[in-house]
Amino acid sequence: MKLTILGGGGFRVPLVYGALLTDRGEGRVTEVVLHDLDDGRLRAIARVLAEQASNVADAPPVTATTDLDEALRGADFVFSAIRVGGLEGRAQDERVALAEGVLGQETVGAGGIAYGLRTVPVAVDIARRVARLAPDAWVINFTNPAGLVTEAMSRHLGDRVIGICDSPVGLGRRIARVLGASPEEAWIDYVGLNHLGWVRGLHIAGRDELPRLLADPDLLGSFEEGKLFGTDWLRSLGAIPNEYLHYYYFNRETVRAYQQADKTRGAFLRDQQAHFYEEMRDPDAPALAAWDRTRAEREATYMSENRETAGAGERDADDLSGGYEKVALALMRAIARDERTTLILNVRNVNTLSVLDRDAVIEVPCLVGANGAHPVAVDPLPGHATGLVCAVKAVEREVLAAAESGSRTRAVKAFALHPLVDSVNVARRLVEGYTAVHPGLAYLG
Ligand code: G6P
Ligand code: MN
Repeated sequence: MKLTILGGGGFRVPLVYGALLTDRGEGRVTEVVLHDLDDGRLRAIARVLAEQASNVADAPPVTATTDLDEALRGADFVFSAIRVGGLEGRAQDERVALAEGVLGQETVGAGGIAYGLRTVPVAVDIARRVARLAPDAWVINFTNPAGLVTEAMSRHLGDRVIGICDSPVGLGRRIARVLGASPEEAWIDYVGLNHLGWVRGLHIAGRDELPRLLADPDLLGSFEEGKLFGTDWLRSLGAIPNEYLHYYYFNRETVRAYQQADKTRGAFLRDQQAHFYEEMRDPDAPALAAWDRTRAEREATYMSENRETAGAGERDADDLSGGYEKVALALMRAIARDERTTLILNVRNVNTLSVLDRDAVIEVPCLVGANGAHPVAVDPLPGHATGLVCAVKAVEREVLAAAESGSRTRAVKAFALHPLVDSVNVARRLVEGYTAVHPGLAYLG
């Protein structure tokens, strides 16, 4: 079984490889191919993987290439985790938006639109190549903005592309934990778009335990989302939002905190990772230890400005291990071995949310097995959440139209329609600002 990782020189690849190393079962991955545009990054990550594999019998062999078609040919699974424009691009996405007084986050608001406009054409090119060179492969999309990018790829790959994100998994795990249940035995009623979803119930042995959590201020205030959103607001909502909704519900505060930060998240990660890849140029440097130290620092500072505005304090130690690689491995195993399970994934809506069309990619619990991922029936979202989901999906559709047609007008419309961009004039200036700094947006006439 061949797994190809696009963005193979990326920082989080060792998480995925580490998960593969724990998988001893029949039908496991037996060959890993890393693809990246940057040879130096490939070499650095290959060193980390080699150290990870050093004491493991039958570790899947790893090869690396900068030839995309060669990487894709014969792949059974393709993980796509690319970052078009690199972390410097992410830092510019933030800077241009914050200068206009709007949010410049990687996936939410103006920053997410700029990143989407850059990424969609590249993702579409990959999807077309996969369709040609590895038509039976399953594509697992990690690339952010994950919902939008998955939808762009699904136009060429249908249901063979599935988007994943670790934030709903982390949320479900935290809620189960405070309720004293194991995440495996809990059924999580969650739906929305990627980074825009809500937990409306958590059923253990058929009983919804969320009301018990909402009724108990101590319990509710004891985990990440309770601290971030405040218990009163969660009780008003009657649901637990994905942490990325903090950018919507507390937009003014997060924009201000991001403006005042010494470094934006993108700039921090750009510098931190530049240091790591630089360190890896020394052939004697211990690769795995340097990687792990860098990873721990990244995890500990995740959403630190948001937590600061909310007075939420440090992250819980239990939340520092992510879960990104676990979702990916669980999905692959479910498909490859027909180990049927339920996972929250980004797939086409079909009939799940009646306010969206069939092809709109949403984030929802899915039944997964050898024939792919199928969304389960869920209750409709309440009015205010439906409004946000529809508004953001309309923005995503404008991004897709702009990427397909090269229309600047459609790009302006994408920014202008976003609920976190408060003026058409701001939208026009954002397009000016982004096209001036991103070579990857030169296609916008
Ligand atoms: C969460 C999100 C991902 C994001 C990751 C890293 O897990 O769901 O989409 O890539 O955080 O965020 P960072 O700010 O560290 O790049
Ligand atoms: Mn995510």
